[in-house]
Amino acid sequence: MSSAQHGGVTVFLTGLSGAGKSTVADALVAGLEAEGRPVTVLDGDVVRTHLSSELDFSREHRDLNIRRIGFVAGEVVRHGGTVVVAAIAPYEQAREEARALVERHGRFVLVHLATPLEVCEARDVKGLYARARSGELTGFTGVDDPYEPPARAELVIDTSVTPLAESVARIRAAMDGDGGASSAA
Ligand code: ADX
Repeated sequence: MSSAQHGGVTVFLTGLSGAGKSTVADALVAGLEAEGRPVTVLDGDVVRTHLSSELDFSREHRDLNIRRIGFVAGEVVRHGGTVVVAAIAPYEQAREEARALVERHGRFVLVHLATPLEVCEARDVKGLYARARSGELTGFTGVDDPYEPPARAELVIDTSVTPLAESVARIRAAMDGDGGASSAA
């Protein structure tokens, strides 16, 4: 059976707003849950309404947000659980701190959704790029706030050219540690 044994693992989806993090997370989670594998989802927007409700988008607070997410993910992984994180997480150092918190207890798979800014901005699902361009919203990632591309992502996926099912299959292969990119049925 392909779903034989697995220890705790965190899949950490990082990328710009509109890069496809939530879409990929939803599809990934649906597949895992259909196999009877429960998943803890830590989505930036949701975390910010509960665990990080007092935080803003300064570097300090973004880093604190990602550290909290890393801590919670590590606790779940410690007990053999599966975690899917979807957060912009624009800073390398905070992502690496999250990695360290998880890798104490299990596996960490960093997935950089490297969808080009132009595509994310054209999608503008929440209308935030338009607000950022008009100056109504300041400090918006990719417009007037930085995004540091990960130096050591396990996977780099551009959702503007990779079909959703293929993105999910590649992540599953990386999670299951077979190192392959085959899309097993
Ligand atoms: S992170 O930088 O701390 O990792 P997180 O993923 O939790 O960010 O939250 C990002 C979400 O907050 C975006 O999807 C967007 O809806 C919203 N948001 C509001 N203001 C900003 C901003 N200045 N920069 C980025 N995202 C913002």
